[in-house]
Amino acid sequence: HLSPCEVAPKVIHEIPLYRPFVEKWAQVESFQARPDDLLISTYPKSGTTWISEIVDMIYNNGDEEKCKRDAIFNRVPFMEMSCPGLLSGTEQLDTVPSHRTHLPVQLLPVSFWEQDCKMIYLARNAKDVAVSYYHFYQMAKMHPDPGTWDEFLGKFMAGKVAYGSWYDHVKGWWEKKKAYRILYMFYEDMKKDPKREIEKVLQFLGKDLKEEVVNKILHHTSFQEMKKNPTANYEMMPTWAMDHSVSPFMRKGMSGDWKNYFTVAQNEIFDAHYKEQMKGSTFKCQMEI
Ligand code: A3P
Repeated sequence: HLSPCEVAPKVIHEIPLYRPFVEKWAQVESFQARPDDLLISTYPKSGTTWISEIVDMIYNNGDEEKCKRDAIFNRVPFMEMSCPGLLSGTEQLDTVPSHRTHLPVQLLPVSFWEQDCKMIYLARNAKDVAVSYYHFYQMAKMHPDPGTWDEFLGKFMAGKVAYGSWYDHVKGWWEKKKAYRILYMFYEDMKKDPKREIEKVLQFLGKDLKEEVVNKILHHTSFQEMKKNPTANYEMMPTWAMDHSVSPFMRKGMSGDWKNYFTVAQNEIFDAHYKEQMKGSTFKCQMEI
């Protein structure tokens, strides 16, 4: 009889990422959110870890040492997470005030809507997400082989990647914000003026922190600081799950890196497809800053 930790490295290469997720789905679906729960929602690779670290710093009044108590994926657990050998998201949720998810709106457990929980949605431009996701597929071993960049980009545009269509995800949450307490944020705005964005989060959470504490949060959650912080950079994940030598989790942390990957032809096709997909939506996002 093998322990989950022994089984995991063996099965992780053989089963698709979402089989364990599906097996635990009933627990996610029936999850009972509390009215004071905060949910962080993102499409993958949009800055989930960054906003999670900011929120944890806010909840801990800018105390860096408290925020180093554990890895970010345990401090702000990932709701639908299920992977043999690691704690599932729903097993961790009861003890923490904030959670994160990559679920599209239609799959969010209904209790979050019923309880009118506050939610922070963070969006990032589709081109940088595609590039970041391509690298993540290679280093996070639960994903299938992404193929070439061109093949992966095609899959991304078709929504045939983990968590489906980026277009539907950002539009779905964009619509929901009209009726629910959702702070809709953009990665590009955070890059441009992180202090202003941190202040928006503070206001949304009804927290008032001294300027020096806000500056501490700003410093602690910069890309350079998070990249070298083992409790934020995912290096505490076992290497069978994430191999940072293939591509570090904290890769570049910039806006507009897509220009180093998209060919002129890919960009033209992408732009035309984007226009079609986003037709009729008021969602607007900067492709660079
Ligand atoms: P890149 O691969 O483009 O570098 P997520 O946490 O949703 O998986 O997103 C990961 C992306 O956010 C990565 O993008 C990562 O480098 C970037 N990121 C993480 N922390 C950041 C920070 N403090 N500032 C800017 N970007 C950050």
